[in-house]
Amino acid sequence: MNDLTDSNYLKFPITIAITGASGTIYGIRILQFLLENNYKVELVISESASKVALDELNVSLSLNPEILKEQVLSYLELKNNKKIQRVLLNTWAHNDIAASISSGSYRTLGMIIIPTSMGTLGAISSGTSDNLITRAADVCLKERRKLVLVPREMPFNTIHLENLLKLSKMGAIIAPASPAFYHKPKELIHLVDFVVGKALDLFGIEHSMFKRWKEESREPAIFQ
Ligand SMILES: Cc1cc2nc3c(=O)[nH]c(=O)nc-3n(C[C@H](O)[C@H](O)[C@H](O)COP(=O)(O)O)c2cc1C
Repeated sequence: MNDLTDSNYLKFPITIAITGASGTIYGIRILQFLLENNYKVELVISESASKVALDELNVSLSLNPEILKEQVLSYLELKNNKKIQRVLLNTWAHNDIAASISSGSYRTLGMIIIPTSMGTLGAISSGTSDNLITRAADVCLKERRKLVLVPREMPFNTIHLENLLKLSKMGAIIAPASPAFYHKPKELIHLVDFVVGKALDLFGIEHSMFKRWKEESREPAIFQ
């Protein structure tokens, strides 16, 4: 079923998962864009994501969903001095396999796992559905909903490559965290925004996160 019609965009949520690959900043940034632009989000983070967030960004992301919600909202609001509607964000514990997004009957626009660790990639590829992230991804595959994976690893071993190919053949979109340079990035955030913008493109979501090829008229929007 293709739920990506205009009228559904603000009606149904997008599931965002952040796993323990390097690049928590991608996950935070896409949350910022979606919530500031009034998209509904279902958020789940892995245990490792919480550790990496602290290590890379010095940001606390709790595994308790209520605390996580407050942490994410206050972090984003503080960063950009912009109020976010509380109702837009639902947060879930990674082991809550009874969460709404664990069922295909709960409608979402699809799911973006950003960044995707090789561990989560392997679990989705083998269909273990052993936590809420892998189960929600499994649901997207079975319901033929959009599943965008943003893997971050270098180099890839053969298992990684086989898992990526297998998931691509099943309909998942593999959108690696490999920023381009043709938009002439000047700051770190421009590299981040290229990756985030490409993930948004895959959902058909309008944005100006980066200057497109041959688009001369404007500089990329810089979110704070
Ligand atoms: C600081 C840090 C950076 C990491 N970077 C990566 C990475 O880029 N890619 C990856 O696949 N795993 C990375 N890992 C390892 C994963 O966190 C680990 O495999 C974990 O079991 C993944 O669990 P998850 O998929 O449930 O998040 C990193 C771990 C740490 C602590």
